[in-house]
Amino acid sequence: MDRNLALEFVRVTEAAALAVAPWIGKGNEKAADHAAVESMRKAFDSIPFDGTIVIGEGERDEAPMLFIGEKVGPGKGPKIDIACDPLEGTTITALGRSEALSVIAAAEEGNFLHAPDTYMDKIAVGPTAKGVIDITKGATWNLNEVAKATKKKVSDLMVIILDRPRHQDLINEVRRAGARIRLIGDGDVSAAIATARLETGVDILMGIGGAPEGVIAAAAMRCMGGDFQGILKFRSDEERNRAKTMGITNENRIYEMNDLARGNVMFIATGITNGSYLQGVRYFAGGAHTHSVVMRSETGTIRNIEATHCFDLKPRYGW
Ligand code: FBP
Repeated sequence: MDRNLALEFVRVTEAAALAVAPWIGKGNEKAADHAAVESMRKAFDSIPFDGTIVIGEGERDEAPMLFIGEKVGPGKGPKIDIACDPLEGTTITALGRSEALSVIAAAEEGNFLHAPDTYMDKIAVGPTAKGVIDITKGATWNLNEVAKATKKKVSDLMVIILDRPRHQDLINEVRRAGARIRLIGDGDVSAAIATARLETGVDILMGIGGAPEGVIAAAAMRCMGGDFQGILKFRSDEERNRAKTMGITNENRIYEMNDLARGNVMFIATGITNGSYLQGVRYFAGGAHTHSVVMRSETGTIRNIEATHCFDLKPRYGW
């Protein structure tokens, strides 16, 4: 896969982030999401590739744009599969909270799990604890292994968990084991990334979140040298049947990072609101600054890109 594509794709997440920025804190999730999707869709057209959305806004019948199977890009050039979340953190954005991102993962055709829009039980850790996790063995076992690998006490570990009633048993177990918890309202892609960045103080992500976000997070963890495992969690027979049509037959399969995102993958994200890694969109008179990250699994290169966008010289993206 042409390495320059990664740098081209940053224009796409920048465009989506810039389009969402006016909606921060406005309480309008739909408008924010629509702005992100529309501008990302348009921005793909400027990249020389033949793209297919494999993780996107949902099935064709429920998403007008960036639906699973939709072709993006001009249709000439390398065949690339795209897993995208134009606005990861819709509620975060509507409430003006932190850690909203616009995200793309890209790989050569056939390398992403075609994950249905269901839930996934997830565990993610940074490079120091790579290879020691086992999602089938429960929270206490994993905390002990991660403590050994990171040479910390279990009581020093910080576990990041989505604040949801479904996680009450998990939260109780982690507390009984003595580890600390950071409960977050939304945004488990950036939570997974946080485990691979020492300065966040986060050691493990645990719990159930979106399956599409799981595939995207796995791509990021591959690029960052961390680890990730997931098990799909269906909410209904309808989801189960949909998954079957996508080729998923073993409901209890444990997906390793490489099962979710194989081969050479790229991960690209732009901050929408401020986060522990990426800064959000910041306006100045006549323009805005964006902060993005571009990662490639092949080389492990991680590039931070600060961009200055001058609205007076260039029309705003999609709005
Ligand atoms: P959206 O931006 O699509 O709303 O996703 C936010 C998110 O918090 C994800 O990061 C997470 O994987 C998922 O929602 C969790 O789903 P739920 O809110 O149903 O628990």
